[in-house]
Amino acid sequence: MAKKLIAANWKENPISEKDALRLFRAVASVRHGRAVDVAVCVPDIFLEAVARAYRGMRGRRAGLSIGAENVFWEEQGPFTGEIGPKTLAALGVRYVIVGHSERRRWMKETDAMINKKVKRSLKDGLTVILCVGEPLAIRKKGRRAAESFVKSQLKKDLQGVRKGSIIIAYEPIWAIGTGMAARPEDAAAMARCIKKAVPLAVGEGKSKVKVLYGGSVDGANARDYIQLKEIDGALVGGASLKAGEFKKIIKSA
Ligand code: PGA
Repeated sequence: MAKKLIAANWKENPISEKDALRLFRAVASVRHGRAVDVAVCVPDIFLEAVARAYRGMRGRRAGLSIGAENVFWEEQGPFTGEIGPKTLAALGVRYVIVGHSERRRWMKETDAMINKKVKRSLKDGLTVILCVGEPLAIRKKGRRAAESFVKSQLKKDLQGVRKGSIIIAYEPIWAIGTGMAARPEDAAAMARCIKKAVPLAVGEGKSKVKVLYGGSVDGANARDYIQLKEIDGALVGGASLKAGEFKKIIKSA
């Protein structure tokens, strides 16, 4: 079976570098064996400290990687406040989350912007975790409507992308941070639909693109998703801020 990926998305947390390092070290101490990869995506401000801690963990880094939560589509130049993928890669960052629904909502990121971010990140050697997912009003119309919403996002976000290291995170908006996780059978059906919709060359190696489930995953329900053959792992927000909870999720993979 393909290796599962558990990705943490710390969002705008924690406040201090000290707390960030404490959390990172706790997560890194989990013996996760060979069956699972772990990616810890942290706010840019902590990337350097976390990367330094990571480099110091010689011998305990297997299966563990660092990720960023956002990226800009230009390498460098007059773009105040932005950070490009080359800069992230130079720090030792491997993954970048692109298109998270919170950025779509609060920063007004459009599919066209997301498409540019995906392309530039791939070009500069990052693995993209592209987030897609429908709002509640669409889910209420049924599975078909949700699938066609997500397919349309994928089409726009991946326009012109023929190959590259991409992972899709299916995150229904109504399930994020609400404690209202999607039903595992619905998540599995969406994962099948995504695998069909995304071209074979996109992803890692020759297998179909990896699909993670995200939205209120915790230590108690993680296994319900991760053990499904269609679902290749989880993108975890709130529960990734509690080391004990996140360790439980890693262990359930
Ligand atoms: P959540 O967030 O686990 O807190 O629901 C998931 C995400 O937004 O990536």
